[in-house]
Amino acid sequence: MSYKVLIPQDISEAGKKYLREKGYEIKIGSGISVATLQQEVQGCHAILARIAPFPAEVLRAGKQLKVISRHGVGVDNIDVQTATELGIYVTNAPESNAGSVAEHTIGLIVALARNLVRCHIAVRNGNFEIRNQVLGTDIAGKVLGLIGVGRIGKIVAGKAAAGLEMKVIGYDPFVEPSRLPEVELTDSVEHVLKTADFVSLHLPANEKTIGMIDRAKIFMMKPSAYLLNVARGGIVRENDLAEALVEKRISGAALDVFAKEPPDPENPLLKLDNVIVTPHNAALTRECMDRMALHAAQGIHEVLSGRTPTWPVNRPKT
Ligand SMILES: NC(=O)c1ccc[n+]([C@@H]2O[C@H](COP(=O)([O-])OP(=O)(O)OC[C@H]3O[C@@H](n4cnc5c(N)ncnc54)[C@H](O)[C@@H]3O)[C@@H](O)[C@H]2O)c1
Repeated sequence: MSYKVLIPQDISEAGKKYLREKGYEIKIGSGISVATLQQEVQGCHAILARIAPFPAEVLRAGKQLKVISRHGVGVDNIDVQTATELGIYVTNAPESNAGSVAEHTIGLIVALARNLVRCHIAVRNGNFEIRNQVLGTDIAGKVLGLIGVGRIGKIVAGKAAAGLEMKVIGYDPFVEPSRLPEVELTDSVEHVLKTADFVSLHLPANEKTIGMIDRAKIFMMKPSAYLLNVARGGIVRENDLAEALVEKRISGAALDVFAKEPPDPENPLLKLDNVIVTPHNAALTRECMDRMALHAAQGIHEVLSGRTPTWPVNRPKT
């Protein structure tokens, strides 16, 4: 009997080819509503998951499910606890996308500092005078403050320090400082918020971090500072951020992620001149899509062939 892999949101050919060559049957899903997933997971031994939510109801409907493998890093869209109780492995692809997300972050720092999006829109609309209406800010010598200095944060730090000549400080209570010679680590998130010219979030969304960047924290930032969130939308309280931006308590923000995706058209953050938004595509380069698909497929193959996965997220109960 060949094992069946459900892929609810299509992936790069590299991952599908890998699975086919190993003898798996692939079922591309027809939608990502809970009802559709509950129906389509039946008879499947694995799910290759992107950003659709996988709550307990979906996992329970997959009576033959052995592994759910995340195309990317964040597993906040998967009920990992239920998976563990049901004996289902959760794996992810943490080495696939850090460099691509870090490049996107650097792009957003430059775009914020030099008002690139605002100037682009103005020039296209015939307003060449924008050159005298908004002034950019130099990046060299400025302080980048990282909250979360794991894989992505470390690469951002290296590029910002070496390439942009920034001073990098960071808050991450769980990292070993000797791993990060390019970052001046502090044990105070407030120090990062109060000191940095650019505050960039690179931590996971979990019960401790959801809503962590709230009004009080945002209002600690310098009026000239910028906030970047390429981590997860829920970490920042969006209404508090919008208030700070409207009141010019901070200079601007760049967001790749939103509490609700896609964001509501009425979300005030979509309407402000001092905000740059991208559609959760920091990792979506051609090369990275191939790596994410391959590494997620590898996790499925490892579990279904009885091996310990290279990138386990949980230890399922047997
Ligand atoms: N925008 C995108 O497309 C995209 C792509 C990949 C990852 N991400 C997000 O970026 C996050 C970081 O990815 P990564 O690969 O660097 O993960 P990682 O696990 O290597 O690093 C996360 C770091 O956050 C730290 N951390 C945890 N809780 C913290 C807290 N309360 N305060 C400060 N630091 C804390 C951890 O110690 C760790 O060092 C992911 O969790 C994911 O949500 C977004």
